[in-house]
Amino acid sequence: MKEKLEAIRAEVRTRLVETATKAELENLRVRFLGKKGELTALLRGMGALAPEDRPKMGALVNEVRGELEAAMEEKLAALDKAELERRLQEEQLDVTVPGVSAPYGKKHPLSQVLDEIKDIFLGMGFQIATGPEVELDRYNFEALNMPKNHPARDTQDTFYITENILLRTQTSPMQVRVMEKQKPPIKVIAPGRVYRSDEVDATHSPLFHQIEGLVVDKGIRMSDLKGTLELFAKRLYGEEAVVRFRPHHFSFTEPSAELDIRCFSCGGKGCRLCKGEGWIEILGAGMVHPKVLEGCGIDPEEYSGFAFGLGLERIVMRRYNIDDLRLFFENDLRFLQQF
Ligand code: PHE
Repeated sequence: MKEKLEAIRAEVRTRLVETATKAELENLRVRFLGKKGELTALLRGMGALAPEDRPKMGALVNEVRGELEAAMEEKLAALDKAELERRLQEEQLDVTVPGVSAPYGKKHPLSQVLDEIKDIFLGMGFQIATGPEVELDRYNFEALNMPKNHPARDTQDTFYITENILLRTQTSPMQVRVMEKQKPPIKVIAPGRVYRSDEVDATHSPLFHQIEGLVVDKGIRMSDLKGTLELFAKRLYGEEAVVRFRPHHFSFTEPSAELDIRCFSCGGKGCRLCKGEGWIEILGAGMVHPKVLEGCGIDPEEYSGFAFGLGLERIVMRRYNIDDLRLFFENDLRFLQQF
């Protein structure tokens, strides 16, 4: 019996050395020290011993049991420690590493300036109207006094969906859409995308933005147009801004004009920005043509109005000294983050 005890002790000792996991250790404990374990079985076999040998043998078995239990505790502690070491290694976290912050987006420069322009006109009592970019030929040209063979169509070649459905070349069709739906007094701006079949270069894009303005009421005169646009220019460019009206032609306004602003870079002397002119063109405008009013069911004898249209890209380019229009549409963060 003593040899058997020694054999168990030796076996547990060697197995303990080989044990690498807690599960293995537990198996070992159950197998040797558990209720149905080998050591317990040995104790049960003590009945076969001579009565005088039993106390000595019992003490010996308990001694070995105590020793093996202690060895297993020790092994358990060692395994726990090794596990902790491993996790500390594996899950290393350097709290001094700078955090990764989610980048904030912001408004595109075109939207920023458009918001500013909207605010200026809202402050003057205008409302904002929007309409379709895919437009009928009738609204884009016909109702604006540009019949099918009108030469002005040549400068506004666009993308046709069918012969009579196209991508609008200007926001002016919104004049007609508003006047068809709403009777005077009318005071709206209509910002939006417009399209032309132009080659892409530093100053041309097949897609750009315009802001249309329309005021119709009794007794609206050219002086109202001039006053409104001068106020607008001063709000946008500052009180020192000087504007001039230059005669022009549009089929849907009569008389028509273009509005220039004195070059804010050279003060009118002529420089690179204004191409030596001293003045920079910022929009087209005029008194709404009687034919257009009539076509919308508004009596030109009773009502009159003015309209204007400005190109957003050009205004933003001059504001920030941007020399290539393509930058607006390339979505390069190095460009966009500057605004
Ligand atoms: N739609 C014209 C253009 O694109 C601008 C304009 C608008 C002129 C309103 C007069 C009145 O050139």
